[in-house]
Amino acid sequence: MTTMEATVETFCEDRIVSGKKLAAHIEAEIMREIARLTEMNEIPPKLVTVQVGEDPGSTMYVRMKHKACQRVGIASGQFNLPENITEEELIEVIRTLNRDATVHGILVQLPLPKHINEERIISTIEPMKDVDGFSPTNIYRLFYGSELLGAATPQGIVTILDHLCSRLQGKHAVVVNRSTIVGKPLILMLLNRDLTVTVCHSKTVDLPSFTRQADILITAIGRRKSKEDPYFITADMVKQGAIVIDVATPNGDCDLEGMKDKVAFITPVPGGVGPMTITMLLKNVLSAYAFERAATNVLTSDAIDLGTYAS
Ligand code: GUN
Repeated sequence: MTTMEATVETFCEDRIVSGKKLAAHIEAEIMREIARLTEMNEIPPKLVTVQVGEDPGSTMYVRMKHKACQRVGIASGQFNLPENITEEELIEVIRTLNRDATVHGILVQLPLPKHINEERIISTIEPMKDVDGFSPTNIYRLFYGSELLGAATPQGIVTILDHLCSRLQGKHAVVVNRSTIVGKPLILMLLNRDLTVTVCHSKTVDLPSFTRQADILITAIGRRKSKEDPYFITADMVKQGAIVIDVATPNGDCDLEGMKDKVAFITPVPGGVGPMTITMLLKNVLSAYAFERAATNVLTSDAIDLGTYAS
């Protein structure tokens, strides 16, 4: 799947990056691909989500994922399991989905309740159905340069960067986050593109001394500094002409108004990375489907983007 015709002018205005517009553009391509399958009377790709408990945030995210599937024509199913389910019972649900040939993507919404070992659950998902890209096989693939099923949020971030900048090689990226969902996979994706990468986190001493060196600053702190002084990242902390990607939800980390005349590009919150994340999940479902169908006779050959970087 190629998205090259999405030029900077089509999704950026006054240095503000509309992740929403870029995501819509990519979704339109996914939709076209699925419409083609329907025309050929092929079964549609299918995502199944698994949610344990009733955390309102998780419920909202799962609902958004199903709505996105509907938008593009991906079939979806949902398991809502009780908070007190045992680890073994949950593993059995996943094994059943692993065996179900009509299911192409499995997503276990995180976090899981404390009595369940998240790592064990994620490891149970069949790697080619792991549309979150968190399973050991997919992390290993990423380690070796393949982003076939890459984690959605980091993939959304690098897709924005790929579209903003034709030459990322050698640029200095500073990532303020080291989580398993965002920071760690993102670091590998940036290295796959030959950037120089610095990682900062909550124990970093003198954060501004690092952020000021960034050609590309990616930040996902996700907390307010204080009520009076809410932003962790202010204009004095960014280099003139930097690209700033603010991943923090629900409120951004960056003082967008204060720095927008200083930066080359900045992603807003909401409407920046968020919409891209869900679109990358849809892309992963399509990739998992294409892989499962051994694809070449069902999909156009460029629908399968192996996303491999040789560095
Ligand atoms: N919880 C927060 N982000 C994510 C994500 O990307 N995938 C899953 N499965 N759960 C999450």
